[in-house]
Amino acid sequence: MKDLIVIGGGGFAKEVIWLANDCSRKVRGVLDDSAQTHNTQVQGATVLGDVSNWINYKDCEFIIAIGSPRTRKKVLDKMLTFGEPDFAILIHPSVRLSNTVSIGEGSIICAGSILTADISLGKHNILNLNVTVGHECEFADYVTIAPMVAVSGNVKLQYLVEVGTGAVIRQGLELAEGSMLGMGGILTKNIPERLIFAGNPAKKLKEIVE
Ligand SMILES: CC(C)(COP(=O)(O)OP(=O)(O)OC[C@H]1O[C@@H](n2cnc3c(N)ncnc32)[C@H](O)[C@@H]1OP(=O)(O)O)[C@@H](O)C(=O)NCCC(=O)NCCS
Repeated sequence: MKDLIVIGGGGFAKEVIWLANDCSRKVRGVLDDSAQTHNTQVQGATVLGDVSNWINYKDCEFIIAIGSPRTRKKVLDKMLTFGEPDFAILIHPSVRLSNTVSIGEGSIICAGSILTADISLGKHNILNLNVTVGHECEFADYVTIAPMVAVSGNVKLQYLVEVGTGAVIRQGLELAEGSMLGMGGILTKNIPERLIFAGNPAKKLKEIVE
């Protein structure tokens, strides 16, 4: 199996390196654009330089360990200006999933998560610790789900959706492109594009201004 390069040297990268070690993946190093991190250690892996240096490691697979969906997409778009990296899929060995779950490249599923039947995950999704996903859910690209979230069946999470820690989503709902459900939110209605909902029952908190 190819060595792994982790993109991003922040806190989530530490967790992803641990996950990669649990998957018996050799981590060659980390790439991060902040110069002060270069040559430092992140969870035992050396920061080798800027993200643009990925072209020097074409024999490796890559994983973008950045929790924010928008930042993750920006970093990916930058990588793609230099060529076509091979992305890994990292699934912790403790994750339970059926044979009708499909997972796009670059996705990360952390320890303790459970995905049941007929579920489709897009590219560069992050499902953090102890997330449950019910039957027939469809997630687009760049979805981030924080720890301890319960997604009921038939839920659609569109492009760049983020769900905060401990949130609960009723069956059949849709979170539109670029929207967010805050931590602890109990969602009983669809969320329109680029709005943040929070609370119990979750209601509009604010718009996301980019
Ligand atoms: C929803 C969220 C994005 C809002 O963040 P923000 O824009 O910085 O908002 P603020 O902290 O300025 O809070 C604005 C108001 O909303 C309230 N609020 C913030 N988050 C809330 C939440 N999740 N549920 C209910 N109310 C919330 C605040 O108490 C504050 O209320 P006030 O105006 O009465 O004082 C953020 O609180 C959140 O939930 N982030 C997800 C965190 C997470 O899950 N991290 C995972 C890491 S792995």
